[in-house]
Amino acid sequence: MIKRRFSKLLMKAFEEQIPKVRERVKTLQTKSGDTIVGKYTINQVVQGMKGINGMFYPCSQLDADFGIRFRGLSIPEMDAALPKLGNEMLPEAVFWLLCTGRAPTAEELKDIQTSLNSAQEMPASTKELITRVAKDLHPMTTLSMAILDLQRNSEFAKEYSKGTLKKDKFWIPTYNDSLNILRLLPEIAGLIYRTKFGKSAVPVDAKDWSGRYANHMGFKADAKVLPVLREYLSIHTDHEGGNVSAHTGYLISSALSDAYLSVSGMINGLAGPLHGLANQEVMRFVHAVDAELQKNNVQVTSVDDPKFTAEVEKFIRNWLKTGVVPGYGHGKLRAIDPRFTALKQLSHKLMPRSRLCTIVQGIEKVATPVLKSLGKVKNPYPNVDAHSGVLLYETGLKEFEYYTVVFAVSRAIGVLANIIWARAIGLNIERPGSLTLESLEKIAKDGGKLSSDEE
Ligand code: MLT
Repeated sequence: MIKRRFSKLLMKAFEEQIPKVRERVKTLQTKSGDTIVGKYTINQVVQGMKGINGMFYPCSQLDADFGIRFRGLSIPEMDAALPKLGNEMLPEAVFWLLCTGRAPTAEELKDIQTSLNSAQEMPASTKELITRVAKDLHPMTTLSMAILDLQRNSEFAKEYSKGTLKKDKFWIPTYNDSLNILRLLPEIAGLIYRTKFGKSAVPVDAKDWSGRYANHMGFKADAKVLPVLREYLSIHTDHEGGNVSAHTGYLISSALSDAYLSVSGMINGLAGPLHGLANQEVMRFVHAVDAELQKNNVQVTSVDDPKFTAEVEKFIRNWLKTGVVPGYGHGKLRAIDPRFTALKQLSHKLMPRSRLCTIVQGIEKVATPVLKSLGKVKNPYPNVDAHSGVLLYETGLKEFEYYTVVFAVSRAIGVLANIIWARAIGLNIERPGSLTLESLEKIAKDGGKLSSDEE
């Protein structure tokens, strides 16, 4: 009998849905299993499978022209639907939404918060590892190693190795492992921050997950970073399954590797400069724009000041001769990322006079028309990375080498919710085919007809 260790109410709400969802998947497969989903081209195969919808990922979906929907809800809809702390969204409520498809009640929210806030500390081995390596390594490398160290505690791995765990119960130890990761992540990520950047500890007394994360980093309950952290951690949770981090974690889990192995892999994918590390690049870019404005004695006033925007435009046009504008463009989106819009609105509310936020918004005003005029990029609009780092910076979290860790803490929520569902539905191991250059050339020569070898 596998113990049900975390948030009994979430487990109950999740379990109630399993029979219905399994039935829907079965009906879909038996009645419509041979229906064609889409066609794809050689370019799509060569260019990273772009636009091929080849994954079943239950909890969120990205529309290229609209942006992300969490269980069908846009960011403003999710914001309106979920219980909050004052006006602030809570990532633990987003986890509930992703797992169950509905908002938690006040009692349900309290139940999951109590589970995630348990006082039981991280294992001594994990603490020792972080203290030993965090100063020398990139924070994402330490985070990935720390989660791997926790893997020795995997209930799924233990139960599976006994040979008695039935497939329809795989989700239970996966759920326990997932909640244990989410329980420990704030403490782990906080200790990495304090060790790497020499920060002092403060009492951990917040009741919510983000608040505790901030406490573990050394920020007190009234620190300016808290409202930003809650929003940031809520909106970065999930971005459908095809992005590198979600896909990596989900793929690893499809081999029945446990949640610790999956999340560690997810972190490694997120650590790439074309993915989660991009917000570091944006910070460097924004500081470069700022330095140029200071050098030329141009006041940072408002996006409606032509002197300010003309100077930003001059800088961008010059920059584009050798580089790209970081934070602009996206692998799938073809419009402004609604997460960018949400963070911009938050900046207007929390820090209307922030110099760096005004620069970010000045960049937005000119970069899109400039990129459009050059006609080279498919998406000249800002993505979430164009704004996220500056908000953290302006509220006191200044070490931008660390920002991708905050992203990873959030993304673990989405990936784990989807992994628990994948095990509950009983999804297969992912095993797509691949093609050599010779095979692709043959397909091209045959006008697109697959030979029996490739079929
Ligand atoms: C994400 O949130 O994962 C990024 O926007 C990248 C992506 O969706 O491909």
